[in-house]
Amino acid sequence: MEFSDLIRARYSVRAYKPDPVSDDVLAQVLEAARLAPTAANRQPFRLIVIHTAGRREELRRLYHREWFGHAPVVIGICALPGEAWVRRDGVNYAFVDAAIVMDHLVLAATDAGLGTCWVAAFDPAAAREIPERFARRREICLELLARAPEMRFPVPRGAFYVFLDATPFFGAWAGGREIHDSAALAAHLLETHGLAVVPGAAFDDDTGIRVSYTLSEDDLRRGFGQLLDVLRARA
Ligand SMILES: Cc1cc2nc3c(=O)[nH]c(=O)nc-3n(C[C@H](O)[C@H](O)[C@H](O)COP(=O)(O)O)c2cc1C
Repeated sequence: MEFSDLIRARYSVRAYKPDPVSDDVLAQVLEAARLAPTAANRQPFRLIVIHTAGRREELRRLYHREWFGHAPVVIGICALPGEAWVRRDGVNYAFVDAAIVMDHLVLAATDAGLGTCWVAAFDPAAAREIPERFARRREICLELLARAPEMRFPVPRGAFYVFLDATPFFGAWAGGREIHDSAALAAHLLETHGLAVVPGAAFDDDTGIRVSYTLSEDDLRRGFGQLLDVLRARA
């Protein structure tokens, strides 16, 4: 779309169709956010993408408008003053940066034919519970991995995944199975134990497996416990 048309086309949409947003379009919108300028290029923000299907009630706690949970995707931005550039008079630019990021995101969404509405009037206490829940899951994951010191992995900074070094588990497994790459290891874990991980080959790194820690605390404890048992038995 021509830029001047785009600027005129954007408006605050307060009625949404339930049609899902494809991963490609979402990626395009998030890429525009990633490319947004930030002071001293500090990028002091995190985006939280929430697919609203099945979460309408929970979302209504954040913002009491019927249409809010009707949008298929809600994107939250957390400004991180501790990571932001600070002017010599003490003014912190985290919120300026966050606003620029969101504006890029909104304009990219408009360009992709999506409606958007900024929402600032949400309940901040209810919103804060979401990243806190993810932070807690990350802690649980690290706590469980700490009990298996032979597992090697870069300590994750994000909210969702840990990338475990799979190379110690390449070679012969019980039952005559030979595993020499991340896809074979992932297939083995899935077929024999129902454990779903993503092979590192999907990210051009065949040396590891990506394990998500977004599930409930009970599922995490059960899943990680089982994963570590299986891998340690082979090690
Ligand atoms: C920082 C910011 C916060 C906003 N918060 C809300 C909100 O909480 N709820 C809402 O319905 N609209 C919200 N809006 C939308 C504005 O009301 C809207 O952008 C403005 O009235 C101009 O209308 P337009 O976006 O259709 O051009 C917000 C807009 C901005 C820029």
